[in-house]
Amino acid sequence: MPNRKILVTCALPYANGSLHLGHMLEHIQADIWVRYQRMRGHEVWFISADDAHGTAIMLQSEKLNISPEHLINTIFKEHKQDFLNFNISHDNYYSTHSKENEYFLNKIFFKLNKKGLIEKKIISQFYDNKKNIFLPDRFIKGTCPNCMANDQYGDNCEVCSATYEPIDLINPVSILSGKNPILKKTQHLYFNLPYFKSILEKWIYSGVLEKSIINKTEEWFKIGLKKWCISRDAPYFGFKIPHFLNKYFYVWLDAPIGYISSFKNLCDKNKKLNFNSFWCEKSNYELYHFIGKDIIYFHTLFWPSILEATNFRKPNGIFVHGYLTMNGLKLSKSRGSLLKASDWIKYFDSDSLRYYLSSKLSNNINDIEINLKDFVYKINSDLVNKLVNLAARNASFINQNFNHYLSYELNNRKLFQYFVNSKIDIENFLENRNFSAVIRKVIMLLDIANQYINEQKPWILAKKNRTNVKLQMISTLGINLFRIVMVFLKPIIPNLAKKTEIFLNIELTWNSIDKPLLSHKINKFQFLYERINSEKINDFLYK
Ligand code: MSP
Ligand code: ZN
Repeated sequence: MPNRKILVTCALPYANGSLHLGHMLEHIQADIWVRYQRMRGHEVWFISADDAHGTAIMLQSEKLNISPEHLINTIFKEHKQDFLNFNISHDNYYSTHSKENEYFLNKIFFKLNKKGLIEKKIISQFYDNKKNIFLPDRFIKGTCPNCMANDQYGDNCEVCSATYEPIDLINPVSILSGKNPILKKTQHLYFNLPYFKSILEKWIYSGVLEKSIINKTEEWFKIGLKKWCISRDAPYFGFKIPHFLNKYFYVWLDAPIGYISSFKNLCDKNKKLNFNSFWCEKSNYELYHFIGKDIIYFHTLFWPSILEATNFRKPNGIFVHGYLTMNGLKLSKSRGSLLKASDWIKYFDSDSLRYYLSSKLSNNINDIEINLKDFVYKINSDLVNKLVNLAARNASFINQNFNHYLSYELNNRKLFQYFVNSKIDIENFLENRNFSAVIRKVIMLLDIANQYINEQKPWILAKKNRTNVKLQMISTLGINLFRIVMVFLKPIIPNLAKKTEIFLNIELTWNSIDKPLLSHKINKFQFLYERINSEKINDFLYK
């Protein structure tokens, strides 16, 4: 395959709080795909940023009695550290509160305006008289007009999934003051989304979306596209709209522009990169957005329309994942319990989460339920008992009996070839983000490899003659099978892969899969991976 040039993004996490395991799922999923593509020799640029604007950030900083700038700077450092801890190999992690982002936002707004795609409208909106602020949908709660469920947000009902306007809520209450809001007139800017209907209809069938995402998007077409409000009243934390007193750009307009501005910032740091060749309308470089299922709307409707209107290229794919849940609860910002990424890493390592999530991840939008018992079982049984043990049991003979040297030949070429041939499936699975299938295949291979060693009983050969060539060839095969599996797993568990490279004294590369390691000196087997014991689990649960 010719060398591809690929730009990959993850959705930009809000800078109003810590990252939780749900955020990490997305960056881990993207990172595995990115690492795999890099291993295949493609040029990949992986970027993201903090989404630093909006009402939630403003209110959070008020609550903490600090400026919003102070809040987003603190959170930025924390997020970067979290991503580092989980081995997320971003080439650039930036912020939407940046000069580059403001530049592209203004440029895009100017162009939309010039093309007549922006109009002014006076609307009535809920206003909190006590806090003196217009209320975003998420800051109003009330009874669902559809199913009468209590305590629902102003935009949609979490019980019956109905979507509506805040005005439709029965007995609306401001969550800032607990008072009933009043209706107040205000002027806003609207982007003419319906204008792009036919372009979008064509685009969604051009191979950029999975079937289930197409279906979702079609539902919105059926309901009818609406003009999109892109302005917000002061007080707000964001970029001011030029020549429009006390109004700010809605955070969801400048957030996706963060994809462009984070890349621009990278180009400024890396002079070899050419901004236009990635973002110009006719670019033949690839662009993929990894996102969660809650923000499909923004990425399949608004974003491609904005790009189309302003002569930027559109993405080649929107890769959508489901929600991470724990005991059925959403681990999200709005509701449910939160498990912070930084708390997780105090007790467990990053490979363990990367491996466990991979074993559950596929290219669909099903939610992913995580469970501690299942996690511990998978790590101990797969990574320790099957994977590391395969290396350990064979290394001991090579290290002790053969002065660390692998044999000049394998004991069973057919078995080796079987492992080599499985790379076709693995490549398919990795390319299509079907990581759970990778894990299933790998476990099947490991079972075969361990079974083979069990049948050959090298320990009996060693008893008879500790430098028997057959013993060396069996162990050499065992090590070679381990090596192939570790190449497959390298994008998923980079830390263990690094330790393996030191142990085997080689680099694990895709091109080397079919060349057996022979007459080669390995290093003394060092401990590769620690079993999770009950003490650790208790620490995690009760500390
Ligand atoms: N700031 C916006 C995205 C702007 S992209 C131009 C946002 N931020 S977020 O912090 O709420 O979410 C960031 C990403 O994390 C989204 O893709 C979202 O779907 C994902 N997740 C948030 N909670 C999640 C889970 N519990 N599980 C899986 N993904 C989750 O939305
Ligand atoms: Zn309802």
